[in-house]
Amino acid sequence: MNYQDAIFNTDFQHFKYLEYSMREGDLSSLSENVLSSNDNSHALIAFGPALSQKLFPENLPEEFHEFEPINKLKSFPSTQRDVFIWIHGKTIADVFDRARELDKLMPSSSSLKLEKDGYVYHDSRDLTGFVDGSANPQGEKALAAAIIPEGPAAGGSIVLTQQWNHKLDLFSIMPEVEQEKVIGRTKPDSIEFEGDDMPENSHVAKNDIPGTKIFRRSAPFGNLQEHGLFFLSFSCEQKRYEILLESMAGSNGSYDRIMDFSTAVTSSYFYCPSKELLKSL
Ligand code: HEM
Repeated sequence: MNYQDAIFNTDFQHFKYLEYSMREGDLSSLSENVLSSNDNSHALIAFGPALSQKLFPENLPEEFHEFEPINKLKSFPSTQRDVFIWIHGKTIADVFDRARELDKLMPSSSSLKLEKDGYVYHDSRDLTGFVDGSANPQGEKALAAAIIPEGPAAGGSIVLTQQWNHKLDLFSIMPEVEQEKVIGRTKPDSIEFEGDDMPENSHVAKNDIPGTKIFRRSAPFGNLQEHGLFFLSFSCEQKRYEILLESMAGSNGSYDRIMDFSTAVTSSYFYCPSKELLKSL
């Protein structure tokens, strides 16, 4: 299919996440650069609802809309932005070079609102020490979860980005058995708890909901002063995210315990158009 290759590409271990606000401008050179292949880096681009409406009025995903704040037992604020760029590189230097190239091609009306550097931490663990991605769908199932299969937006995907700031000292002070109850999996080998062993407010319990498979590409970001998980995911349907986030925030009586140790300080939805659609810009 015609989706942007970076969604499934796992060649590189260094990332940069860029989010811009922007109302209008020429994006043709930028898109050309994103689509161009390069041995040392890959890039992906996606657009917020308002800009998508201007760029692809005939090829939008059904009912694609901005991130609306969620306020239950816990909250998710909205920081909806207009352009998301995800860069992967062989080295930090390659990521930086590609980011400079792409940033120079952004229209002058745009403004950079978020820049975070991500990295693979040990064997694909979150900074809490738990493996992240174990239950991600694989192969054909990953494709089915992430890519819009048909209609005018075919080959596209809905992206959710969230910067989660961790309180690592608070988490790591707990004994490992208690940490495992927060996640719903064992720490050393990522074995999922079964039956009564799975706490109903664990992260896995709150997100293992039938019909909501998404394809996650999150990675740790940050330094000693500020660090956490840059949550990044691809889905064929926007409502899957809404169901998961409502569940985490406590729509059914209890909230996801992970939210005691980490806070989502940004949230945006973007439309990642197919390569064909991107070429049309
Ligand atoms: C602080 C932020 C987060 C951290 C540290 C985190 C970490 C993890 C970890 C360690 C797992 C278990 C291993 C795995 O299957 O990947 C997991 C599973 C999962 N997470 Fe997260 N996650 C975070 C936020 C989110 C958010 C915001 C969503 C949804 C919008 C989400 C959706 C999922 C799903 C769907 C699973 C798999 C559940 C299943 O077993 O079916 N996560 N996450």
